[in-house]
Amino acid sequence: MGRLNGKIAIVTGAARGLGKGIAEKLCKEGATTIIADINQESCDEVVKEFESEGYKADAFKANIADRKEVQDLFGYVKEKHGTIDILVNNAGINRDTTLVKMTDEQWQQVIDVNLTGTFYCTQEAAKWMKEKEYGRIISISSASWLGNFGQANYAASKAGVVGLTKTAARELARKNITCNAICPGFVDTDMTRGVPEKVWDQMVQKIPMGRAGKPSDVANVISFLASDEASYVTGEVINVGGGMIL
Ligand code: NAI
Repeated sequence: MGRLNGKIAIVTGAARGLGKGIAEKLCKEGATTIIADINQESCDEVVKEFESEGYKADAFKANIADRKEVQDLFGYVKEKHGTIDILVNNAGINRDTTLVKMTDEQWQQVIDVNLTGTFYCTQEAAKWMKEKEYGRIISISSASWLGNFGQANYAASKAGVVGLTKTAARELARKNITCNAICPGFVDTDMTRGVPEKVWDQMVQKIPMGRAGKPSDVANVISFLASDEASYVTGEVINVGGGMIL
């Protein structure tokens, strides 16, 4: 018996990286997990892979920065799976450059996906979770939310996720819905594999545990927050970074 048996979960940006690792863990714990991602082909591949492991998974293509596509995603899940118990807001992008070089486009793209997309999904989930008086919303912020060189847009979006989470936690607590944020440090995914080797080494040196994180390091904490065991934990911001402080 997994601790999420019978639950219906949506994980955004779950076609690869951290999101895929989170979705896999939720499946392992017994949840039927919907892989929601902008990349249809990868979504379908992940579902195939998970089904071959005996997990219950489904895919839906959605750009979380688009209100209509988010409504369609939640409409699909409600119709096909009947309800939604767990939302993991994981989809995110970076467009790193220093403040003075940052274009309006780089700023806006990151805010649209990381912050506005998280707002759209949180709002849609909250509407339904309020009706059933049960829900778990977990949003991926970042250690960078406190500020990081070359990441004004990203840090602002991830700080926004913290503010959104803490507000949602207060507004939804009476309805038995918990909202928490996770701040991963430096996790080995395609996003971080894009940095030059020298920067990779510098980042790892800042981690007291001496290694980059794995998606499973983050997924294990999320699986706890998504479970009934975490029913009295809300409005929290939890670092999962091997002790790293930027
Ligand atoms: P990744 O780039 O490897 O994967 C991101 C996934 O999100 C991809 O499958 C992509 O197709 C999807 N996606 C992108 N834009 C989307 C949109 N508009 N709508 C739906 N799906 C979209 O990234 P990674 O590393 O797995 O990061 C996942 C989350 O964790 C992000 O929110 C990121 O900011 C956060 N994070 C990552 C850290 C790291 O070290 N990798 C550290 C701290 C936070």
